Amino acid sequence: MRAPVVFDPAVHLCYQPPEKVITMQELALDGGISPIGVTAPFPLLTREGVTELRREILSEDVLDRYTVSSYISAFQGREFPKDVAPFVHAVWSSPEVLRAVSEAAGVELVPIMDLEVGHVNYQLGNEGREGVRRTSISPEPQSPSETPEARQVAQALADADNGEGDTNVCFHRDAYPFVCVLMLSDCENMIGGETALRTGDGRIVKARGPNVGSCVVMQGRHIEHAALKAYNVSERITMVTSFRAKDPMIHDGSVLPSIHPISKKHRLNYQWTLYRMKLLAERFSIVAQELERKKALLGEEDDRDGTGGSEIVNVDSMSKWLDEQAAYLMTTRTEFMV
Ligand SMILES: [Fe+2]
Repeated sequence: MRAPVVFDPAVHLCYQPPEKVITMQELALDGGISPIGVTAPFPLLTREGVTELRREILSEDVLDRYTVSSYISAFQGREFPKDVAPFVHAVWSSPEVLRAVSEAAGVELVPIMDLEVGHVNYQLGNEGREGVRRTSISPEPQSPSETPEARQVAQALADADNGEGDTNVCFHRDAYPFVCVLMLSDCENMIGGETALRTGDGRIVKARGPNVGSCVVMQGRHIEHAALKAYNVSERITMVTSFRAKDPMIHDGSVLPSIHPISKKHRLNYQWTLYRMKLLAERFSIVAQELERKKALLGEEDDRDGTGGSEIVNVDSMSKWLDEQAAYLMTTRTEFMV
């Protein structure tokens, strides 16, 4: 048996920061957890790195046991644990990769839950699912359409696609704050395949899709977006990993309606509850420490006269914060998969 390849940033990582970003301000959008809305495609993994990811996500084990089809996409791979796809998990937990994605996003990020690491969308060609099983492990260049006329027709169709009619994935917001979409196919000759973003003032902006080994980072929970049809490629495999802010005090608007139809109930409920409890535990601990710090700063003199001392808890602001935590807990409960 082949020895597993260990993720090595010196061999598999080729990060270069995005040359361009579209800011939330340029999209006329408020909210969000970073000033950056979406990045231009930027290099993340080498071909060797992409090949190792493909080796795992095209393995029999993943295709047999960890694939699902839904209204969102005909064929998706997801929820594979670390022992089934060790390289995938090593990539998305590597400090170097997290640093790169965080720098591009403008905010420090961590993966949302283990089961969302390395979700895969396989675009099916004429041969359907069986064709995926015969897909080569290394990303092969795909030949362009035979005629310039065919390319022109594809270009006209792609130009006309603004995400509102017949498209690849219609307008939606993602379940989680940030997403990194990494291209695992050689799409040099692809026409279309952009992401359409709806701006706060009603415009539609198209963001270019990445080529093999490159990725885009997007604030998908806070931007309404659509995935446009891609022409002139048969194989198109993307890896989608979802993130939240590492700082537990930063807003986390995650919800699960789009996740339920593609997930296994007990696995999701366990990981979802665990992540929410750990995040809240961190939050409450930070707030408790802050209260103790304020009390200590007042010194022992503060309550010497027995009247109760200075105000430490501002009831208005603490009440508002507690309401937010109650809402977060309520969301944790209402998003259970039953
Ligand atoms: Fe999306």
